[in-house]
Amino acid sequence: MTNIAVFASGNGSNAVNLVKTFNSGNRIHVALCLTDRENAPVIEKMNELGVETIYFPRNVWKEDPQAILDTLRQRDIKVIALAGFLCFLSEDIVNAYEGRILNIHPSLLPAFGGKGMHGANVHKAVIEAGETKSGATVHVVTNEIDAGPIVVQREVAVLPDDTPESLEAKVHEVEYLIFPEAVMKTVASMTPPAVPKSVDDAWAEALGVPNNVPPVPQKDRQPDNSTTDGPHNPTDSHPLNATAYQPYKTASRQANTAATTTEPMPPTFLVWSVIMTILCCTIPGIVAIIYSAKVSSRFYEGDMEGARRASRNAEIWIIISFVLGVITNTLYIPLSIAGLF
Ligand code: GAR
Repeated sequence: MTNIAVFASGNGSNAVNLVKTFNSGNRIHVALCLTDRENAPVIEKMNELGVETIYFPRNVWKEDPQAILDTLRQRDIKVIALAGFLCFLSEDIVNAYEGRILNIHPSLLPAFGGKGMHGANVHKAVIEAGETKSGATVHVVTNEIDAGPIVVQREVAVLPDDTPESLEAKVHEVEYLIFPEAVMKTVASMTPPAVPKSVDDAWAEALGVPNNVPPVPQKDRQPDNSTTDGPHNPTDSHPLNATAYQPYKTASRQANTAATTTEPMPPTFLVWSVIMTILCCTIPGIVAIIYSAKVSSRFYEGDMEGARRASRNAEIWIIISFVLGVITNTLYIPLSIAGLF
């Protein structure tokens, strides 16, 4: 499950749409809504949907971004969706979530973007400019307004009798389609590819013992210099591409650390098998051989009674060796798999 947060300042119809799209499934969860307006209608809507909503006054957004980041990290938020969020977003937040903050904008960016271009202002400007098409864009947030890489964009026709209100309604309809699509794309790009299980891991899992085989280094994996699981490599041209491998590298680094720093492992199944065979099979076998040797020495000494006794003992130890050998090799394997050893 990937937790996401929605930031919204107004009505929150996009926020509601994201909650309704994701929160009944088990892959993405809108776990938090943050707002910069105390009386924003989105607050009540989120409360009705059971989504935790917190209001931070504008000065906190500007002067104490760490408070916002702490709130997000405490709830394990991986992706942020700006759904009509009209407040200044500090560089600290943008950098901490680089490539993982999406903004929805009601025009075909880069057209009609930038400072002061939001909501009704955009639709008014589109109509005044005599455009025949408009649309909506979801883009990655960078430190430049409305300028990050486009994730999804869709057009709507602008008809001669359209008003800012009718255009807004049409644009909203496509926003409800493309915003969830862009969130899914971003989350998918962050999910590490499934690593096939090794034979050692499979055995360790079946026997309920930890596997102490260190992971094989992958030569073609990129060097990992990151210190958090957020920012991407600054040399990447597209932040989404960057997040595609960044969390994966972090996860693999944790796996390596775990594998190399765990306590010494208990002997594996194979080691125990050899020990049990030596104790139960080989040692009685050696005793049987000693008694066999005694048989001939007693015989040549003329001690027929001693030779008979040694012969009986040799037979008993051969049987013990055989029985224990059968037990260790037939019973031990299923018992150890069942977790009784
Ligand atoms: C949406 O149309 C969104 O594209 C726009 O605000 C509206 C919020 O509607 N965002 C911007 O203009 C950002 N520059 P909503 O509150 O009903 O989701």
